[in-house]
Amino acid sequence: MVFPDYREGRLYAEDVPVDEIAEEVKTPVYCYSATALRQNYLSYAEQFEAGNSLICFAVKANSNQAVIRALGKMGAGADVVSEGELRRALLAGIPASRIVYSGVAKTPDEMRFALQQDIHQFNVESEPEMELLNEVALSEGKQAPIAFRINPDIDARTHEKISTGKASNKFGIPWTRAHEAYASAAELPGIKVQGIDMHIGSQLTQLEPFEAAFRCLADLTTELRGLGHNISVLDIGGGLGIDYADGNQLPPAITTYATLANNILGHLDCQIIVEPGRSLVGNVGILISRVIYIKEGERDRFLIIDAGMNDLLRPSMYDAFHEIVPCELRGGEPVSYQVVGPICETGDTFARNRLLPPLLGGDLVAIKNAGAYGAVMASTYNTRPLVPEVMVEGSELTVIRPRRVYDELIGLDTPDGVPELVIQTAENKHRNS
Ligand code: LLP
Repeated sequence: MVFPDYREGRLYAEDVPVDEIAEEVKTPVYCYSATALRQNYLSYAEQFEAGNSLICFAVKANSNQAVIRALGKMGAGADVVSEGELRRALLAGIPASRIVYSGVAKTPDEMRFALQQDIHQFNVESEPEMELLNEVALSEGKQAPIAFRINPDIDARTHEKISTGKASNKFGIPWTRAHEAYASAAELPGIKVQGIDMHIGSQLTQLEPFEAAFRCLADLTTELRGLGHNISVLDIGGGLGIDYADGNQLPPAITTYATLANNILGHLDCQIIVEPGRSLVGNVGILISRVIYIKEGERDRFLIIDAGMNDLLRPSMYDAFHEIVPCELRGGEPVSYQVVGPICETGDTFARNRLLPPLLGGDLVAIKNAGAYGAVMASTYNTRPLVPEVMVEGSELTVIRPRRVYDELIGLDTPDGVPELVIQTAENKHRNS
């Protein structure tokens, strides 16, 4: 199935015309395809089903519970990075035994909550974190099952803001200190070492950095086992890129990536955990938006749409390319547009000099490949209500996060307790003196 897809010049999300979604839920709105989501998961499951592999969806990519639940029902676990994500995953029905907890800054409260749930694994990113986890586990009368996240100093060859495996990045324990870290952990009664974890970055389009990371994992496994440590879980992280149709190198297929992992790690008799985010949900989502105005600038033609950087941050944050397509094909010579949102910042730009068929105020457009790191990074900047989300399956449309109303958003503030401020105008300053 292709998502989204044109039928007689009209854009469809599965069997639902996109204009009908816009009519019903208004815009901007994220729309996800349940069928495309299932297809992506099955591509992973077919490859990693051998042995006792576990596909832990990186919840940070899309944390709507409908998405997590759909994946969980097919057997997915979850990779979480906060108590909030852990709570979401549990509520969405992912068993704790299939949850791994990553992240550089777990607090004692977060550790305690995760220990109480008996999650599968903590991915520990520093020695101080290991010591604190030991203390919290002992106070709970438990042993924390851990893998150390090792920083292999490998360049993932991706955008610098989402590269995580270089020595200069804040993530993981340097591979040069790995032996020491495992030796210290072996001394701690609240820690139970079970594996090694690595995640070198996101939106990787080349295979070589993965290959280097997997080889590093394999070598470390042999070395650590030689030193008497129990290594039975290898968490290979996520990071496989998707095709954003930006003309850059195409990412490897899931099959190619999985074959590489299985070839390098398969013989080690470990549980392999993979933590995909973007490659599971990226291409299953579109952001539907309506053109508000077309404005002729001095030099440029601005296509001003009702979605803003607060709804989809990726273009402003990473200069990310997202394909933008009209929801109705009417033909006409393509026109060059600056596609911008309503936010009061020049950075609120979705595309520069983008050739699109001629559009009119009121037309609908879809911003593609917005299912990963889209809605989850949305904010209410400029006091704009949080963007809603819907899911389609065949001709069924389900609202999975309704549009919020202004009162809810503004009502979050509690200004009434603040004492009246004495405003020092020039006049009363004079009077007081
Ligand atoms: N595991 C860990 C420990 C991670 O930090 C991440 C992503 C993943 C798995 C999932 O990676 P993926 O398969 O999605 O590449 N907001 C950025 C992406 C940030 C990625 C953060 N970590 C963006 O919009 O491109």
